[in-house]
Amino acid sequence: MEGKYNPFLIKSYESAELFCDRESEVEKLYQNAKNGIDTTLISPRRMGKTGLIFRFFDFLKKDKNFKSIYIDIYAARSLSDFIKLLSEAILKQFPETTTIGQKFFNIIKGLRPLISYDNISGEPQLQIVYQTEGEKQQTLQGLLTFLDSQETKIVLAIDEFQQIAYFPEKNIEALLRTYIQRLRNVQFVFCGSRKDMMTEMFSSAKRPFFASTQYLVLDKIDKKIYADFITKIFRKNNVEIEQDALDFILEWTKTYTFYTQSVCNMAFSRVNKKVDLEVIKKSCAELLKNNEAAFFQYRKLLTPAQWEVLIAIAKEDEVTQITSKKFVGKYNIGSPADVRRITKALIDKELVLETVTKTETIYQVYDVFLSRWLEREY
Ligand SMILES: Nc1ncnc2c1ncn2[C@@H]1O[C@H](COP(=O)(O)OP(=O)(O)O)[C@@H](O)[C@H]1O
Ligand SMILES: [Mg+2]
Repeated sequence: MEGKYNPFLIKSYESAELFCDRESEVEKLYQNAKNGIDTTLISPRRMGKTGLIFRFFDFLKKDKNFKSIYIDIYAARSLSDFIKLLSEAILKQFPETTTIGQKFFNIIKGLRPLISYDNISGEPQLQIVYQTEGEKQQTLQGLLTFLDSQETKIVLAIDEFQQIAYFPEKNIEALLRTYIQRLRNVQFVFCGSRKDMMTEMFSSAKRPFFASTQYLVLDKIDKKIYADFITKIFRKNNVEIEQDALDFILEWTKTYTFYTQSVCNMAFSRVNKKVDLEVIKKSCAELLKNNEAAFFQYRKLLTPAQWEVLIAIAKEDEVTQITSKKFVGKYNIGSPADVRRITKALIDKELVLETVTKTETIYQVYDVFLSRWLEREY
């Protein structure tokens, strides 16, 4: 549909209308916020965590008792970066022109910040120069105390929270935990896609955040609900999608949010009235082609043995017995011990996703497009 606005988003969040389901998750986040419970939100990347946070914040606008603040610390390399991101987010939520904003300004003025405004987004940017570690810690505490002293309650979502584990400063976790524990008015959502790191941080008795939050594990969207959503969105734009096309999308993308959205987005851009199986297959092929350069790059970064194991997992779609004779023998990929070691390396590189359930451990190629591409090319 040339020139027409594409309703299948593959970035960020826009409105409840273009967002599929997640109602029970929004409700859970809301209940936690109201009951003073912090939440740890986990899922593999591209499942919809960030989208869910924005959906929740959109929903929260209805409740005047709350204000929301979002920071993504993926690119933060230190406590200073963290403070900078948090200050900017606060400035964004409470602009200088508001009373609260003025108060906030007075606090950070003491830090001799350089404030500028991004010339593309117009968003505030801060530069703070510190003398000592102690100053940094004080600033962080000051920011959180400031938030805590507002008349409204505040939900502060910290996306890609696992990054704090890489900060060079010592005891960041303990420091944050100490400050956070004292707050009465601020509720946290800690969000992350490294399940191993997140669960270690929040479930290990040795760690400061141990048992301090409630987990919300984001799963795939229900197939039937997603199918209805896709049909509805197309229909609103006067496009009919055929049943076999719909089935193919959900199967081929494994109902994995980002990939399902991507195929729908591509199909939408190609048609005017009707989406049939052929359109979908062509859309999928084009998406694989668009990503091919990245896939070749992966191959360059892996050893041949790692690449072979990745292909074998892709061809199986899902592997539960990763060291079984049946799997290892079928693809001739070395000894069970080799395969175990290689799989571990692939998990660390986030090329293989390990899902532990009550009854089994499932291995899949993390990126669905890469999985489909390997399956087809080899
Ligand atoms: N419930 C949803 N309905 C429609 N699109 C969604 C939904 N959740 C996520 N998306 C889309 O999927 C993509 C990946 O989601 P994102 O929230 O960035 O995942 P994560 O933060 O888990 O990596 C985004 O482009 C987003 O627009
Ligand atoms: Mg995200």
